[in-house]
Amino acid sequence: MKIDVLSLFPEAFTSFLATSMVARALQKGAIEVALDDIRDYSTNKHRKVDDYPFGGFAGMVATPQPLWDAIKAKLQDGPASVIYFTPQGRRLNQKILLDYATESRIILICGHYKEIDQRIRRLAVSDEISLGDFVLSGGELAAQVFIDGLARLQDGVLSDIASAQSDSFYHQMLGFPCYTRPEEFMGQRVPDVLREGNHGKIEQWANAQASFLTKTRRPDLL
Ligand SMILES: C[S@@+](CC[C@H](N)C(=O)[O-])C[C@H]1O[C@@H](n2cnc3c(N)ncnc32)[C@H](O)[C@@H]1O
Repeated sequence: MKIDVLSLFPEAFTSFLATSMVARALQKGAIEVALDDIRDYSTNKHRKVDDYPFGGFAGMVATPQPLWDAIKAKLQDGPASVIYFTPQGRRLNQKILLDYATESRIILICGHYKEIDQRIRRLAVSDEISLGDFVLSGGELAAQVFIDGLARLQDGVLSDIASAQSDSFYHQMLGFPCYTRPEEFMGQRVPDVLREGNHGKIEQWANAQASFLTKTRRPDLL
C-alpha cells in the first residue's frame, strides 16, 4: 500500500515512521509512505500557504492553490482515495481501517490553521475522517493514527495475525483480558482455566469475557 501524506509539518512523522509496527511494515515493504511538504507546492514567492478568511472570522485558512497542486501531482501516479482529517468527518473505527487496508494507494491531507479552503474539500477530497469529538491543532496525529491502524492489518506485519483478529473491534466486540507470568502477582492469581491447557475451554472463557466486557462497556457494538 502506497500512502502519500501532505502536511505542513512532515518532520512530525520522523520518529513515528521509525518506530515499532510502522517501521516494520515499511521495512517489509507492506506499506510505503511518501511525505510531502504542502509549502513546497506554493507558487507564492514567500512560500505562503495561509490567508485571512472571507467574512472576517478569526483565524487563518489554508489557501487552495498549494493543496490543489500537491493533490494533482500525487494523482499523476494513478488513482487514489483522498482523505482529509477533520473533526467534522465520520468517526474513525476499525471497520473504516479494514475497508482502507486493501486499497493500493491513498493520499492523506493533514489540515492546519482554522480550516482548509472549503473548495479543496468539495473538489478533491473523497473522504473526511475524524479521530473523535475534540479539536487538535493539526491533522498529523490523525494521519499517524490512521497509518498505524492500517500498517498492522497488512500481511506479514504482525508476527501472528490471529492477535489482530482477536483485538477489540475486529469482530464488533471488545478484546478479552490477558495474563502472563508470574501466576500470582500482588495476591491476584491468573484464572485456572488459562493454565489447564484445555483449548476449547480457553476459547469459551475468552469469548465469554469479551461478551461480558462488550455488554457492560459498549452495548452499542452489539
Ligand atoms: C484547529 S483544527 C480545525 C478545526 C475546524 N475549524 C473545525 O471547527 O472543525 C486544524 C486541523 O487539525 C486537524 N484536526 C483537528 N481535530 C481533529 C480531529 N478530531 N480529527 C481529525 N483531524 C483533526 C484537521 O486536519 C484540522 O483541519
